[in-house]
Amino acid sequence: MADRPLKVGVVGYGHLGQFLVEKIQREGPKVGLQLAFVWNRNPDKLKDSLPKELILHDLSDFTRRGTDVIVEVCHPQIVKEFGVRFVSHAHFLVGSPSALSDSQLEHELRTAAKQHGKTLYVPSGALWGGQDIQKMNDSGTLQALSIRMSKHPSCFRLTGGLLSDWTEGEGRRVLFHGSVAELCPIAPNNVNTMAAAAIAASKLGFHGVTGEIISDTALADYHIVEVEVIGPDGFSVTTVRQNPAKLGAVTGNATYNSFWSSLLVCKGHGGRVYLC
Ligand SMILES: NC(=O)c1ccc[n+]([C@@H]2O[C@H](COP(=O)([O-])OP(=O)(O)OC[C@H]3O[C@@H](n4cnc5c(N)ncnc54)[C@H](O)[C@@H]3O)[C@@H](O)[C@H]2O)c1
Repeated sequence: MADRPLKVGVVGYGHLGQFLVEKIQREGPKVGLQLAFVWNRNPDKLKDSLPKELILHDLSDFTRRGTDVIVEVCHPQIVKEFGVRFVSHAHFLVGSPSALSDSQLEHELRTAAKQHGKTLYVPSGALWGGQDIQKMNDSGTLQALSIRMSKHPSCFRLTGGLLSDWTEGEGRRVLFHGSVAELCPIAPNNVNTMAAAAIAASKLGFHGVTGEIISDTALADYHIVEVEVIGPDGFSVTTVRQNPAKLGAVTGNATYNSFWSSLLVCKGHGGRVYLC
């Protein structure tokens, strides 16, 4: 652990951002973390809960805050606009890894991390077995990977009005089945778990990993994440995660603590991508 606390910049002040900011304020000194800044698209939301010296008004000014780790918890668009700059100056925990389905951006982020010796951290979120997937990927034994996410329709944020006509009690509907590359732009806020899996399975990549999203009105209390891994000679692993979640919430309850655990890992692992 470093002698001085690591300075953390939090970009986004929605559910996850507020959770992380409060946690750093409360528990940071114990675990060697300190807030460097908080940015939100609407700074008014920050005024009542943070001292003004911690509020960053213009995100481009993040370079003046001497930040060790930047955590993005707002939207893939911010990863597109600022990700390369972030990882050129600090370790970068990317909360919206679905942005990396843009292969050009993924390449630029990987290159910047390498060039500047900073780590691009990808939180495992609701993904179970990410490290195992990565090991199989690295040893060349990962043959196929598919992830199915089932949620109540109110928990989806889809582009193009794909689910605008749902009615309570309608049951189960397959919304999409195909590559994670095609799925990310349709459901950018819902498929970060799949994006993390596609990054762990880098040899299959976003185009080679299969994703499916299912709307199910019976799932009022939890999301379900199913992961199926296929290897050689009949090897297979299937996991089913039941993730308690509030109605209408994008993020499952357990994912908050998973995110905090991910942040505690971000102490620098060299110029590369690191699943945490
Ligand atoms: N990696 C994971 O496993 C995982 C898990 C849950 C959520 N997430 C992602 O983390 C992010 C935050 O999640 P949350 O539950 O806190 O969501 P949220 O909706 O509560 O908060 C998002 C915040 O970002 C702001 N925002 C939205 N679009 C923006 C844009 N284009 N530019 C700037 N700011 C914008 C919103 O105003 C809000 O303050 C989302 O992208 C979500 O998909 C990732």
